[in-house]
Amino acid sequence: MTVPVPVPVPKAELHLHIEGTLEPEAALALAARNGVDLPFASAEEIRAAYSFTDLGSFLDLYYALMAVLRTERDFTELADAYLARAAAQGVRHAEIFVDPQAHLTRGVALDTVLDGLGAALAAAPERHGITTQLIICFLRDRPGAEALEVFEAARPWFGTLVTGVGLDSTEVGCPAAPFAEVFGRARDAGLRRVAHAGEEGPPPYVWEVLDVLGAERVDHGIRSLEDPELVARLARDRVPLTVCPLSNVRLRTVPDLAAHPLPRMLDAGLLVTVNSDDPSYFGGYVEDNFAAVRAELGLDDETLRLLAANSFHAAFLPEDERAAHLRAVAAHRFG
Ligand code: ADE
Ligand code: ZN
Repeated sequence: MTVPVPVPVPKAELHLHIEGTLEPEAALALAARNGVDLPFASAEEIRAAYSFTDLGSFLDLYYALMAVLRTERDFTELADAYLARAAAQGVRHAEIFVDPQAHLTRGVALDTVLDGLGAALAAAPERHGITTQLIICFLRDRPGAEALEVFEAARPWFGTLVTGVGLDSTEVGCPAAPFAEVFGRARDAGLRRVAHAGEEGPPPYVWEVLDVLGAERVDHGIRSLEDPELVARLARDRVPLTVCPLSNVRLRTVPDLAAHPLPRMLDAGLLVTVNSDDPSYFGGYVEDNFAAVRAELGLDDETLRLLAANSFHAAFLPEDERAAHLRAVAAHRFG
């Protein structure tokens, strides 16, 4: 008798750094192909370095391993590998982050990055049954003027490939205000705006991205619960929060999954979604995050259905596509 394998609930992934999908085996293969010296001899050695104490300790390795990504083909293969995994985990729509400055500063041109990713994303509906958007993120630990340069250089891809801007990298000690100008230009260009905040930083960091940048979604935002007025604002305006439970555990922003604020965020009426952030580094892709919160937080089928529905409510999708996805979520039968 064959045992049926449960089909993952259809979902949108809204918080996914494409560079954070670089698996150790792929990093080693690319290092060999591109003649890049890595301080690691095996995938086991790379995985042994996945022992993070905070966001900064992760970012050090994340930026270091990107050294293996050099050609358009590398970026195409990276994105295609992610999309294949995402499809197997029930992802039907992905709004993908890329960090152009992390590549430009090491001599990889913008067209290499964007055309490389663009080839994989263009093929995704046919190859993987996934629609995509690309969000270029600015590094908040680098100058606002540099973000403006990158933004202007990326204009040829606006609307066709690039549909939004984001803000990521080191949070604490790096205010969002220097990025107000670039977020304003993004709004004027018709792009969507998202920003990391409230991952390690306290509530004022979340207020800042809402009020100074006009962010339409907050990436992480888990520390918002510390400020009841902020919770009221996020609930009133239905501002989506893209929460990444396994990431929060690995980066020690929560002591363990059982202590994760996700259930309290839902109880507070927040529009919460579950995502994977940097799945290669944090022990799982998006359905693994769903499975983890089911197992460790005791979330039932209907709460998982709500989280999946939230992902489509929070996505930057045309209304007819959103409605079709929501019908599929409503019809889903958990195994
Ligand atoms: N860049 C990649 N992953 C990130 C995270 N979790 N927080 C901030 N910047 C990031
Ligand atoms: Zn992130």
